Amino acid sequence: MSGKVHSKELKSDKIPKHVAIIMDGNGRWAEQHGLDRIFGHREGVEAVRSVVEGAGEMGIQYLTLYAFSTENWNRPREEVDALMGLLVHAIVAETENLHKNNVSLRTIGDIASLPEQVQQKLAGAIAKTAENSGLRLVLALSYSGRWEMVEAAKRMADELKNDKIDKSSINEELIGKYLPTFGLPDPELLIRTGGEFRVSNFLLWQIAYTELYFTQKLWPDYRKDDLFEAVNDFQKRERRFGKTSEQIRI
Ligand code: IPE
Ligand code: IPE
Ligand code: MG
Repeated sequence: MSGKVHSKELKSDKIPKHVAIIMDGNGRWAEQHGLDRIFGHREGVEAVRSVVEGAGEMGIQYLTLYAFSTENWNRPREEVDALMGLLVHAIVAETENLHKNNVSLRTIGDIASLPEQVQQKLAGAIAKTAENSGLRLVLALSYSGRWEMVEAAKRMADELKNDKIDKSSINEELIGKYLPTFGLPDPELLIRTGGEFRVSNFLLWQIAYTELYFTQKLWPDYRKDDLFEAVNDFQKRERRFGKTSEQIRI
């Protein structure tokens, strides 16, 4: 791959509005360093800090981070507990800094399934940063694409039954309103670290036309320079949305 990309080298008129990241590889990073898996998660917080900073520098408006999936509940109890503890710690440690940097926080996912303490800290951080007008940071927690679609289907079924919506009004836009990502533009770029080529139940509806970028780098080693490199790669792509190249170039 190319050498280091500086944020100033990027085309300012082609910065993606919304970047989503599957932060993978913490466990392997820890293993490579002869440490317990949780140390990989702990180290991953530094990567989050750097990437949030880089996203702000570039003028990305929305950054969605996949932090814990519906399926991750199936990990060993000790790892899940340690992750939840780390989450509390990270929210407490980072909120002030996010606030100073004009970042606002929101979440997507089954937040009610998280431990009470995590919910409380999240609610506090969300309230504190609600009025900020800079980067919108979205944490996907106890989230999966299929989960949100099932939830959306249930709510739509209720509203159909109660005559709040009509079958003829169901279209893509309406479905989008029932998803927790309502109000966010679809991501233009999805990055996955850690070398796997899969989406692991992340933003299935929203990534219909998203550019995918996979890197071998493990999440704890990921920094804003790596994000700049991914955006640089994105800027070289031709997004055709089903049309021909010729149609796009005029
Ligand atoms: C990603 O790293 C973090 C979470 C899924 C919570 P992993 O913990 O999946 O790391 P690997 O894939 O085992 O290396
Ligand atoms: C995806 O990583 C979920 C998050 C990064 C939060 P996983 O490590 O859970 O994904 P799989 O199981 O390898 O697909
Ligand atoms: Mg993994």
